[in-house]
Amino acid sequence: MNRKPIRKAVFPVAGLGTRFLPATKASPKEMLPIVDKPLIQYAAEEAEEAGLRQLIFITGRAKRSIEDHFDKAYELEMALQRSGKEKLLEIVQNILPPEVSCIYIRQAEALGLGHAVRCAQPAVGEEAFAVLLADDLIRGTSKGAIAQLSALYERFGCSVLCVEEVPPEETHRYGIVQTKPGPQGTLRVVSIVEKPAPETAPSNLAVIGRYLLSPRIFAKLDQTPRGANGEIQLTDAISALLQEELVLAHPLQGKRYDCGSKLGYLKAQVEYGLAHGELREAFRQYLRTQRF
Ligand code: G1P
Repeated sequence: MNRKPIRKAVFPVAGLGTRFLPATKASPKEMLPIVDKPLIQYAAEEAEEAGLRQLIFITGRAKRSIEDHFDKAYELEMALQRSGKEKLLEIVQNILPPEVSCIYIRQAEALGLGHAVRCAQPAVGEEAFAVLLADDLIRGTSKGAIAQLSALYERFGCSVLCVEEVPPEETHRYGIVQTKPGPQGTLRVVSIVEKPAPETAPSNLAVIGRYLLSPRIFAKLDQTPRGANGEIQLTDAISALLQEELVLAHPLQGKRYDCGSKLGYLKAQVEYGLAHGELREAFRQYLRTQRF
């Protein structure tokens, strides 16, 4: 069955980023660069490459640089133009293609991921939409994670969660799903729980920061009380949603870098550095000559 393509992506970016202090004291964790691009831009490009045209950022205090990043930078452009730095000018002028629009909604209180997604409702309306958590940096095998989820949405018209197996001792860091076989070789989510201890986790299949959600999630979020950490958890609303609607799990085809952790962030720097057009050779050579 053909569905209306997904058009809107929600980026919850109001979090405090305490794991990266002091780097994130005055600037958002989503603006941390991997080589030469901030995390939020990788996520925005992933959404754009999947054909999404409206990017909705749920922001908070000290997040102005995210808005500035996707905005026009007249002074910088003029300075680059004057000094003949055409290549750089092209980079800053093409952060996003012109057909992509950005909306910023302020999350006044830090009440958790579910609350952040709920704040997007006025901009999303009654259609299915994507959620991307920029600190999960994903390099898809043949296409990006959101494009992978969209393909399933187009076939089944239901919510889809991107999942990945994690070491059993790490279940307490993720939303964890239990699945059973779904239609046409898919995986149907039968339960989901936020950050369970390894002893109580239903599996080691973790939800990573990519979701496609039915608009029914908003009604469920309205009824979701504060859960783990005193926050309104998206996971709890998904748990209510799957009592009513089909929710599928899609095992990621590709590699995820957990840039919410310092180790994951460093791994991403090394691997993106080794894949970077300008740096590849020099960086590889440097690493080869080091005795670590
Ligand atoms: C959030 C979600 C969690 C999910 C994770 C993916 O947790 O609450 O269910 O598995 O993102 O990165 P956070 O990393 O914000 O603690």
